[in-house]
Amino acid sequence: MAGAQGAALAAAVTNAGGLGSLPCALLDLDALRDELTTLRALATGPFNVNFFCHSPPVFDERRDAAWRAALAPYYAELGIDPRDITAGPGRRSFDADVADVVEPFQPAVMSFHFGLPAPELLVRVRGWGAKILCSATTVDEARWLEAHGVDVIVAQGLEAGGHRGMFLTSDLHTQIGTFALLPQIVRAVGVPVVAAGGIADASGVAAAFALGAAGVQAGTAYLLCPESTASDLHRRAIERGGRVVTAITNLLTGRPARGIVNRLMRELGPLSDLAPAFPLATAAVAPLRSAAEHRGADDFSPLWAGQNTSGCKAVPAAVVTHELARGVPGRASP
Ligand SMILES: Cc1cc2nc3c(=O)[nH]c(=O)nc-3n(C[C@H](O)[C@H](O)[C@H](O)COP(=O)(O)O)c2cc1C
Repeated sequence: MAGAQGAALAAAVTNAGGLGSLPCALLDLDALRDELTTLRALATGPFNVNFFCHSPPVFDERRDAAWRAALAPYYAELGIDPRDITAGPGRRSFDADVADVVEPFQPAVMSFHFGLPAPELLVRVRGWGAKILCSATTVDEARWLEAHGVDVIVAQGLEAGGHRGMFLTSDLHTQIGTFALLPQIVRAVGVPVVAAGGIADASGVAAAFALGAAGVQAGTAYLLCPESTASDLHRRAIERGGRVVTAITNLLTGRPARGIVNRLMRELGPLSDLAPAFPLATAAVAPLRSAAEHRGADDFSPLWAGQNTSGCKAVPAAVVTHELARGVPGRASP
């Protein structure tokens, strides 16, 4: 979960018997090396290293200007001079420089979101002995991933928090719920399928296995754990209990992602054609986010979370992992 966790949560999940994942999309090369070093020191078993695989965006000056014009009233309200806006935080795609940093750590598993890296990079990763996972949000994407040699497919349903892993389509109407998507992908491919989206407790895990899943991927359920790095604002938004409303928005990064509805999403979206391509939309929102957060408001903050926040508890990640593990058929609770 990029932006909401680092090595500590990944290690805690691995050490509790799950497969902890380190999200690397927001890390520069030095931070990546540091996090991998920490994870290797803390984890007592195998872990997964996760990357985004988006194509670098083409900067469109007119679109960027239109986006800033849409945000102009907010700049005025918060006393921000839009001429001071610099390039926003980037999102790193998996490339040869990243592979150079990861290689010495020889992760047991590498997972990708938004499709796969270039074929020569995939061959390189496979040469380390890593199993390769990738998200699919449609049956077509799952078939494509199997044809391109992926070992395990993550069926990411519409309930899931964070960015949609969609890569063959940008049509949100193709995106369906986990328990509609999972059995269709299980029938369509021969590789193991992991269910993701809305799974927050043992009964959800058991239901996913009943529909043919070989495993589950949970994100949202870990957001309140002490090992997560979710901000206080993010935690407070989740703790609104039954009043948590999420939506899919492209306003905060340029790509559709599910998060708790904030003021920007309510007033400009949640979806808008004005938002520049991923991740360019972020730059113009970043100063609004920091000014509002300074005042204790989450009006412009990405509050990524899935539809099912019922599993979110401020308990150690091991407790959440053990609860989920109770749902795995034939697996006694640790
Ligand atoms: C805060 C947050 C950040 C996420 N960041 C990533 C990421 O960096 N890479 C990735 O592959 N998936 C990411 N996801 C999606 C998860 O991997 C997973 O598909 C999703 O959390 C499962 O659904 P759930 O949130 O209902 O548990 C993120 C999810 C959340 C909630």
